Amino acid sequence: MSASAVPPAAPAAPAVPAAPAAPAAPAPADNPLRAGLVEDRQPEPCAMVIFGASGDLTRRKLLPALYTLRRERLLPPSFAVVGFARRPKTDDEFRAEMAAGIREFARLQPVDETLLAALSGDVYYVQGDFDDLAAYRTLGARLEQIDAARGTAGSRVFYLAAPPSVYPTILRQLGAAGLARRPAPGDRPFCRTIIEKPFGRDLATARALNAEARAVFDERQVFRIDHYLGKETVQNMLVLRFANGIFEPLWNQKYVDHVQITGAESIGVEGRGGYFEEAGILRDMVQNHLFQVLCLTAMEPPVAFTPDAVRDEKLKVLMSLREAGGDADGAYALEDNVVRAQYAAGNVLGQRVPGYREEAGVAAASTTETFVAMKLFVDNWRWAGVPFYLRSAKRMPKRVTEIAIHFKAAPHRLFGGDLRGAAAHNVLAVRIQPDEGISLNFGSKVPGPTNEVAPVNMEFRYGTSFGTAPPEAYERLLLDCLLGDPTLFTRGDEVEASWRWISRVHEAWAAETGAVLPAYEAGSWGPPEADALLARDGRRWRKP
Ligand code: BG6
Repeated sequence: MSASAVPPAAPAAPAVPAAPAAPAAPAPADNPLRAGLVEDRQPEPCAMVIFGASGDLTRRKLLPALYTLRRERLLPPSFAVVGFARRPKTDDEFRAEMAAGIREFARLQPVDETLLAALSGDVYYVQGDFDDLAAYRTLGARLEQIDAARGTAGSRVFYLAAPPSVYPTILRQLGAAGLARRPAPGDRPFCRTIIEKPFGRDLATARALNAEARAVFDERQVFRIDHYLGKETVQNMLVLRFANGIFEPLWNQKYVDHVQITGAESIGVEGRGGYFEEAGILRDMVQNHLFQVLCLTAMEPPVAFTPDAVRDEKLKVLMSLREAGGDADGAYALEDNVVRAQYAAGNVLGQRVPGYREEAGVAAASTTETFVAMKLFVDNWRWAGVPFYLRSAKRMPKRVTEIAIHFKAAPHRLFGGDLRGAAAHNVLAVRIQPDEGISLNFGSKVPGPTNEVAPVNMEFRYGTSFGTAPPEAYERLLLDCLLGDPTLFTRGDEVEASWRWISRVHEAWAAETGAVLPAYEAGSWGPPEADALLARDGRRWRKP
């Protein structure tokens, strides 16, 4: 049914039993970054509707994250989850699936069965097609019943986790059914939407999706998710830079030689060949995750740690990215600065793995890139002339995400010998995952009668310093949405600025005729062309 058709009356929704008293949760773990939150700032009551609730994300990430939030007393006492998807299912069937997902994927194990049973009682299911307005009316009626029975007070979060092609339909139907409400005075009851990635597949589709979202919501109601921003170590980039006095004075073109950002994965496409064929690593990892990491690395200090102040600064980084021909002599060309490649069969972590073209759902002559490396410039006062080298790929020798700041050499050579590597260039490496931490590489005198200098490391590890594993990104992001804090979500203009740069690369690739896509062996660090990108500048990739 189209959005303008007259909907039939909503069918009667099954009755919702009143909420039983919540069982006592275990005492919350200490959480210095969110001190006071549990006592002072529990989110307001609300119901979260998940569109596409039959998908993997709901079972593996969303419900386990909600369970952990409940366990840490970070969920409002009056809270409900309503799964919405096409498959027919009863509340109880959906609850059983979600409970199994929580048992398998929750971060804090073993799962507390009493708490799980209580959370399951807050879970409901509504079956419907995404374009069927009547189903949205049914959903609305069900939500009202839940409000009355569970005290969820009319506040809503609509989580779009369905196939991205139906996002516009869902947004339109939410509007047509009167479920998407503009903010009320004081924002109570609140109404927000979380939109999963990918947010569009190029600049035009991202713009169109922004327009659909803004047709029914205000920008401050729209939470575009990039789960990298929910990672504790990604947020620590801001703390490292702006809560310490020693790093920021060096964080500029005077002292930084170049920056390397690596997002490497040892996995292949993991049964998502069909999706990956359409995406490629540039869309899948760089447009969102790596560009966000780049923004946090390069941005100016925001005037305050508030949503728009932080996002304004990130936007400026994206707007400063050099475009083709955008340097003084017009010599910056995408084909010289962006390398793409595809993995061939090889060995990863001791296992023989097939090449990309042999994966299910992948065309035998596919030209989709699974590796990309690029040299970028952030053309502003702070970073003039400093290259940012980014790379991201599937089927690398290991999984590692890292930001490495390579500092310039000391201005005067006082010590003889062949100063190489870290002894010549100090490197501050921020390890986002795994083995989260920070290391500083510097030159030290080798004990003995000579002045030989050797590279050594100073290390900080999250695990040893805090004795705890960092929370899951989705825990933080779901909580922030419930609190109405969009700081760690991308704003519409940011997403468009990032697509503007990425879409130019796609356009350049589409215009290439007869170009041969380099191959790299699975389990290697990529093709020789990626090494040449740095070698031309007298540099090389760090082995993380
Ligand atoms: C997702 C991509 O957004 O991020 C996946 O679609 C990728 O292809 C994943 O594997 C990586 O996330 P993480 O948190 O494992 O680094």
